[in-house]
Amino acid sequence: MRILAIESSCDETAASVSLDGRTILSDVVYSQADMHALYGGVVPEIASRKHIEKISLVADQALKAANLTMADIDAVAATCAPGLIDALLVGANFAKACAQALDKPFIPVHHIRGHVAANYIAFPDLKPPFIALVASGGHTVILDVQDYTRFAVVGTTRDDAAGEAFDKTARMLGLPYPGGASLDKLAREGKPGTYRLPRAGVSGAPYDFSFSGLKTAAVNLIHNAQQKGEEICREDLALEIATAVADTVVPRVVEAARERGYTAVAAAGGVAANSILRGMLQARCEKAGLSLYLPPLKLCGDNGSMIACQAYYEYLAGNTAPADQNCYATMPAGEDLCRVEA
Ligand code: KG4
Ligand code: ZN
Repeated sequence: MRILAIESSCDETAASVSLDGRTILSDVVYSQADMHALYGGVVPEIASRKHIEKISLVADQALKAANLTMADIDAVAATCAPGLIDALLVGANFAKACAQALDKPFIPVHHIRGHVAANYIAFPDLKPPFIALVASGGHTVILDVQDYTRFAVVGTTRDDAAGEAFDKTARMLGLPYPGGASLDKLAREGKPGTYRLPRAGVSGAPYDFSFSGLKTAAVNLIHNAQQKGEEICREDLALEIATAVADTVVPRVVEAARERGYTAVAAAGGVAANSILRGMLQARCEKAGLSLYLPPLKLCGDNGSMIACQAYYEYLAGNTAPADQNCYATMPAGEDLCRVEA
């Protein structure tokens, strides 16, 4: 089955064609990051306008790269939640229009489920159940992936995502948006012990996290140093920020797998590209006897392939939707998208 999938939840306009889910025939990503970098973060209005400009072109390129035409497509999918609502609507409306014109099914896909599915593309042997960590600019969540379309949220952030903490502190250190990757590069040159930032937990919710305190503590540390005319060692601070995130996330992920008797852990999302987080996940999973699945960096950030792959499993589960399918800015990954208003 060939699925054309569209991803437009944030600042990437992406399209991909999958064959029976895990085989990716094409993957086209148009990144708007340069445009938003002027403002130090994503400007929703600019994002949706750029999606409108690029969506047809990107979908055409995905078909061409797969050596296919629209007539060869068996279903059309799009990310319908969560994300910037206007940005989501551009991709979903484009995909619904294609599906209607072709008289083929439309498959709405949850963005976080898509991030998890990046692992199915990278690792053909991976099957649920397993624990997934999805860490991105907007989300930090531990999921119990019970089946391809059955998810339970084990833990989530109560405020900022880990990526938000990276991006805001990177900005304070003068790094361009999106700062996570640049901060990661600096951290690799840093030495431990110079700074100490908080590792917060949530009372009564052992799997939940809070990153706003970490972000504020790092920002205050930078401000205080600036006011006193003191030099900040950016490398050492970057290492402490990344270590604080990894220290918060990794033990919870390992414990979630251990508690359920699962043998596998998968990571996904832009922040899963972080070298300190990857290193700590590798060390702790190995110690706990867990198989760890870490997709290549290209599949960690937003892309159409992960949506095209997850769409196949949603289709097999009967999760197709009529033309009045809506989009949602927020939605837990456990909810079935196309049944929300049923
Ligand atoms: O998954 P993604 O591409 O988009 C969302 O769904 O949000 O994630 C983007 C986030 C940004 O916050 C970016 O700074 C962060 O992933 N990121 C990183 C790294 N590469 C990207 N954070 C830390 N270390 C990295 N190497
Ligand atoms: Zn994402």
